[in-house]
Amino acid sequence: MEQKSVDAKEIGAIAEKWRDKKGSLIMVLHEIQNHYGYVPRNVSLELSKVLGIPLARIYEVITFYNYFKLEPPGKFTIAVCLGTACYLKGSPEIVDEIKSLLNIGEGETTPDGLFHLDVVRCLGCCGLAPVMMINGQVYGKVKRNEVMGILSKYKSED
Ligand code: FES
Repeated sequence: MEQKSVDAKEIGAIAEKWRDKKGSLIMVLHEIQNHYGYVPRNVSLELSKVLGIPLARIYEVITFYNYFKLEPPGKFTIAVCLGTACYLKGSPEIVDEIKSLLNIGEGETTPDGLFHLDVVRCLGCCGLAPVMMINGQVYGKVKRNEVMGILSKYKSED
């Protein structure tokens, strides 16, 4: 996947804003992710220079918090619930089906940038278990053999 070009001035400004604040690295990373949708590697490199923090430390923080993404999210973000109710009703099978249809793992994006797969804990509609969501649209009582049909709807929308 192509890296976004980096505007060093912009990154410098973000870093400057948080420089002397507590937890500044996390705040800077939040702002970077809000801006780019993820934390591109070349941005981490630039941050390391600007903040004088080793790259390894930056990656330690990024990988510690699940919230931060190292890859660009896809056009359609699929979230499959692995909360207890959904798990018991077979959501791991839904995850497996998506992985094998799209050939990606959890937290990954298809090379064409179309789909991104996340697993989450409870989407708040356990009565519809197993539940998956695509860009905010909820699919309840999903069966493994329905997954392909649901995904192809989005493919054709593209
Ligand atoms: S456990 Fe899946 S929606 Fe609550």
